[in-house]
Amino acid sequence: MSTQPKKYDSIKPIIWKDDNLDLLDQRILPAEHTYVTLKNVESVAQAITDMVVRGAPAIGITAAYGIVIAARKRFADSPQSWKEDIEADLLILAQSRPTAVNLFWAIDMMREVIKGLNVTDPVATLLAIAKQVHEDDIAANVKMGALGADLINKKCAVLTHCNAGALATGGYGTALGVIRSAYAQDKISLVYADETRPWMQGARLTAWEMVQDDIPVSLLVEGAAAHIIKTSQQTDNPIEWIIVGSDRIASNGDVANKIGTYALAVLARHHGIKFMVAAPTTTIDMNIASGEEIPIEERADTEVLGFAENKVAAQGARARNPAFDVTPAELVDAIVTEKGVVLNPDAEKIKALMSINYKPE
Ligand code: MRU
Repeated sequence: MSTQPKKYDSIKPIIWKDDNLDLLDQRILPAEHTYVTLKNVESVAQAITDMVVRGAPAIGITAAYGIVIAARKRFADSPQSWKEDIEADLLILAQSRPTAVNLFWAIDMMREVIKGLNVTDPVATLLAIAKQVHEDDIAANVKMGALGADLINKKCAVLTHCNAGALATGGYGTALGVIRSAYAQDKISLVYADETRPWMQGARLTAWEMVQDDIPVSLLVEGAAAHIIKTSQQTDNPIEWIIVGSDRIASNGDVANKIGTYALAVLARHHGIKFMVAAPTTTIDMNIASGEEIPIEERADTEVLGFAENKVAAQGARARNPAFDVTPAELVDAIVTEKGVVLNPDAEKIKALMSINYKPE
């Protein structure tokens, strides 16, 4: 078996083309493979809110390109005051979704660059930086893939949640990057994918990515995870790892990810299997002490009360729709980043990780 995964690089969620931003519309995948072209910052922010693009690293990269688009207009409108004027655009982007810290990382980083810019063509400089952010993310994912695969000792089944794949990143994926690398090394027999209500990222996106790469995938309704984890232990194909991505990791190692992740971490500990989180260091928020401070997005109840355009729930019923939950660090066996692996994370280990000077290969 080849050690190189095959087709991941044909999945491109974000493309800078003809001076505009093209996003693969993830709301209609896999039925339709359609790109949406965005020409102003308002439409970029709306695309993030509406889940045209989703997944923490992909949201950060999109915001970086969105700032290029904003700078182009502001600089053309007013070369004298564009640096002040663009603050309004950064605010629009910052309000698009609250949980994924990669969004705020990208905005803060670009703001600092803008402050220091003293060139005749700021747009070209900002575009080069956005492209670098994009490339660095893919490189980080490939690195994490190798590091995460090293943690898997023997061939087994794994379970993943939501979509932490090429679609959720610049390419290759975080959790799915680990799965791609491990599968290429013949360490994975089967990937169980939670379907992930209400947006069905598992059923629509993760399953699609796995099928594209010829990696065997079996879908589960979330409620089946406990049963499948338990009963798989008596087979010759046990689930040994749960592998997920993250939207924000607090400085003590608490992990926010798609709603349902916390339940999986509890299940993993109960059944003596391992829980791995793969995320680039742009997902680590050193400004917060614990997961208690992570803002959890609550989306419209209609996403739960119905399915796509169809109403499903009883008329009059209400719904809660938190999009993320927080897994406490003590339930996490490994956080895999491009800078290295942190086993049994805590504040001290995360601080040490973040102090590592890292240059993408
Ligand atoms: O609501 P989404 O689809 O943006 O949620 C995405 C997730 O929860 C992913 O697991 C997370 O962003 C990691 S993506 C590499």
